Amino acid sequence: MLLVAVYSPLVAADAPTPIDAKTLFNANCAVCHRPTGAGTPGLAPPLTDIPAVLMSSSEGRRQLAMTVLYGMYGEITVNERRYNFKMPAFSQLEDEVLAALVNYVSHDLAQVAATTTLTAADLAAERNHPVDGAAVRAHRTQVLSSNVP
Ligand code: HEC
Repeated sequence: MLLVAVYSPLVAADAPTPIDAKTLFNANCAVCHRPTGAGTPGLAPPLTDIPAVLMSSSEGRRQLAMTVLYGMYGEITVNERRYNFKMPAFSQLEDEVLAALVNYVSHDLAQVAATTTLTAADLAAERNHPVDGAAVRAHRTQVLSSNVP
């Protein structure tokens, strides 16, 4: 009886599907940011430096959550290159998926991987404070000016 229960397909169906962040990144983000996160000059910035820096503070983690939920627009400069195109909002994706995507960027694509992690709860908290992409960019400037070593 026990074996029947263990091998029942119903038991397997209850197991949560693991999130494959690399596949999700390649499907949703790589068209602009490239699969390595190197970015596309004139279009989308590299994700190999700044996101891991932002990950090190609570305001920086809020910034990353805001960026993927609400997008961002307005000029930014990364590694001496200027970008002024629109990052789309991805609020249609679930909190767990967005957290996994930001963690993939900050841990796997980063030059120096972040040591902290974004959680689904962090995303849920930002969903309660909708902002537009211009405000996301203004918050980025504020966080980085007090955060960059
Ligand atoms: C249509 C192109 C496009 C797609 C698709 C896209 N992005 Fe972006 N992303 C941008 C642009 C453009 C910016 C910079 C916006 C600006 O200049 O204000 C940006 C900025 C960012 C930033 C902030 C970087 C920084 O230095 O603060 C992060 C993080 C980010 N994107 C992650 C993602 C993730 C994760 C995905 C997939 C879920 C994604 N992007 C999909 C174009 C895109």
